Amino acid sequence: MIFEKPSTRTRVSFEAGMFELGGLAMFLGAEALQLSRGEPVADTARVLSRYVDGIVARVGSHETVLTLEKHASVPVINGLSDRLHPCQALADFFTLRERRGRLEGLTLTYVGDGNNVCHELMLGAAKLGVKMRVATPAGFEPDPEITASATAAARDAGGAPPELGHDALRAAEGADAIYTDVWISMGQEQEAAERRRAFAGFAVTAEMMSLARPEAVFMHCLPAHRGEEVAGEVIDGPRSIVFDQAENRLHVQKALLILLLGAGRRDEKSRPR
Ligand code: CP
Ligand code: NVA
Repeated sequence: MIFEKPSTRTRVSFEAGMFELGGLAMFLGAEALQLSRGEPVADTARVLSRYVDGIVARVGSHETVLTLEKHASVPVINGLSDRLHPCQALADFFTLRERRGRLEGLTLTYVGDGNNVCHELMLGAAKLGVKMRVATPAGFEPDPEITASATAAARDAGGAPPELGHDALRAAEGADAIYTDVWISMGQEQEAAERRRAFAGFAVTAEMMSLARPEAVFMHCLPAHRGEEVAGEVIDGPRSIVFDQAENRLHVQKALLILLLGAGRRDEKSRPR
């Protein structure tokens, strides 16, 4: 598990999950690896593939995870990049289904920054028949390539394309879930003041929640900033399922590990030795 950035949930859930499955997880802070002294990502992938059965990587640049995947002979799991956060979205859709009994036809409204978490939810929603609405300030929309991919995936699945806009209250109307994430992602600290100004009006408040369906839930990948992107009374209120989302990271990632590294899988991507 290579981590270039901090983590509570991803690190601990993968580490605990591997232990529960009878395996071993090794936490490798990138600064402790020779990567920090210039060893190429490609060589790191080749070397680690000689020792381990899978690699989890939390990286700054999405390119790094793609390079690892290209050169590793074992599965590579993206534990968050600046572009995507697949393990989070898997747990989120699992949690929504657990709560609502189904996914198809539900409306998920994402309010805030069109970031890695938003991207992954858009791609997942498109495949799962969830209608996705995204409300961001102007200039903070999701990457157009992601929007195009999600639109194509929704079309293939016979579902609705994501709806993008700048009116958070309108997007909240009649939603089954309202999701938000931080306004300042890891690596964007120098933009903090500008972002706080731009995102004013995009906080999830009790008023916004009251526009959603009566059974609507509040979701957040965590860590959260109460009083910034979400009001304390919302995240700590009865409609919040944020700690179920966090717990489900463990269960869903265990399933992912079994799928990718479980019995019989090892032979499929044979090691070069
Ligand atoms: N949601 C999430 O990925 O949390 P961590 O940054 O704590 O891993
Ligand atoms: N968008 C956030 C998610 C943290 C889990 C970030 O990248 O920092």
